[in-house]
Amino acid sequence: MEVKHQVSLAEFNTFGLSVHAPLFTEVTTSLALQEVLKDPRFKNALILGGGSNVLLLQNLTRPVIKISIPGIRIIEENEQYAIVSAGAGVVWHDLVMWSIVNNLGGIENLSLIPGLVGAAPIQNIGAYGVELSDVFHNAIGIGRKTGDSKIFETKDCAFGYRDSIFKNELKDEYVITTLRLSLTKSNHKLHLEYGGISKTLDEMGVAAPTIDDVARAVIRIRSEKLPDPTKLGNAGSFFKNPIVLKSKAIKIAKDFPNMPAYTIDENFTKIPAGWLIEQSGFKGKVFGNVGMHKNQALVLVNYGAATGTELWEHAQRVMDAVLSKFDVELEPEVNLIN
Ligand code: FAD
Ligand code: EPU
Repeated sequence: MEVKHQVSLAEFNTFGLSVHAPLFTEVTTSLALQEVLKDPRFKNALILGGGSNVLLLQNLTRPVIKISIPGIRIIEENEQYAIVSAGAGVVWHDLVMWSIVNNLGGIENLSLIPGLVGAAPIQNIGAYGVELSDVFHNAIGIGRKTGDSKIFETKDCAFGYRDSIFKNELKDEYVITTLRLSLTKSNHKLHLEYGGISKTLDEMGVAAPTIDDVARAVIRIRSEKLPDPTKLGNAGSFFKNPIVLKSKAIKIAKDFPNMPAYTIDENFTKIPAGWLIEQSGFKGKVFGNVGMHKNQALVLVNYGAATGTELWEHAQRVMDAVLSKFDVELEPEVNLIN
């Protein structure tokens, strides 16, 4: 096992924050991971994938284990479905592109989500009307305390909106090493209803879309809206879209008749946090080294020289403003790392 000391994490987090880790190692196999987990120096280590959903607040006092387990293959198939197994270190978007090249449907709407496969179940990644849980078959995790491997079926994962058991009861208990997805081999069920996909396909001149067309439409929409983290440090949506009581949503809509909202059920409504933040005056406004992005107010941006603390202070400023204007509490989607 190669262990490095005092490693800059600048290239390992998409905010581009150059905090240091006292110890750093990278694992490319489950066996190597089991060895590292036994090493007392790596107790309490931060497990890092692509670093696209973490805010590193300061220099770490704990070590980092970077997950780089490769490999994509079909492990089982019948006429309709293929079970695809991917290593936790595979780049998520590479898996999406691989599935399209192999004419396997189900994750095309999740094109261009940054990060690695192993982190996908942690917050149940989602976009454009599809969530990981829609195609999840199972995942293999290694217990951090026991070193034993366990298979998690859908029923074990408590998937929700940007949520799973791995963020709650099992937080920091397991490291995901393998993800298996159930993808369609034919008669793909396309999800075109959400977020301007149909309109974009029209603009592209596509009348009878394939999964490849849907992926290209999603890539086009995302590239227009979301800043590229290699050019402008960010971690995507900084907050979750809040789910509020329907009565509260109705109250806000009285003053703001153009408020966008999605019905969850007869009692709850989801309001886009980007709208709440824009209405609170933060969209595109720069505060020193930080701000909420000019095209997407939900994206907290590092304009180059920000620290983790500065970014978090701004996030709190935004949360306070939205709370006082709308009486709605925003909850960070990004994982805060001390
Ligand atoms: P990391 O940031 O490395 O880790 C995230 C968390 O998971 C950490 O707590 C980490 O400890 C834990 N973790 C990582 N790997 C493992 C593992 N193998 N086992 C156990 N725990 C692990 N997300 C969406 O859902 N939808 C979007 O549309 C979306 N768009 C984005 C757009 C941009 C521009 C950016 C920068 C981010 C976006 N995200 C989106 C957020 C992010 O891409 C996802 O959350 C992604 O799954 C994070 O993967 P990662 O490998 O970078 O995780
Ligand atoms: N809006 C504004 N102003 C803004 C941004 C958004 O008014 O600056 C309003 C608009 O009405 C817009 C609505 O919010 O129609 C929704 O915006 P958008 O379609 O951009 O999606 P979102 O709700 O802001 C969510 C996810 C994204 C995901 C997209 C597409 C969350 C927290 N975010 O964003 O995920 O890519 O939908 O499905 O659920 C991420 O998790 O990091 C992420 C980028």
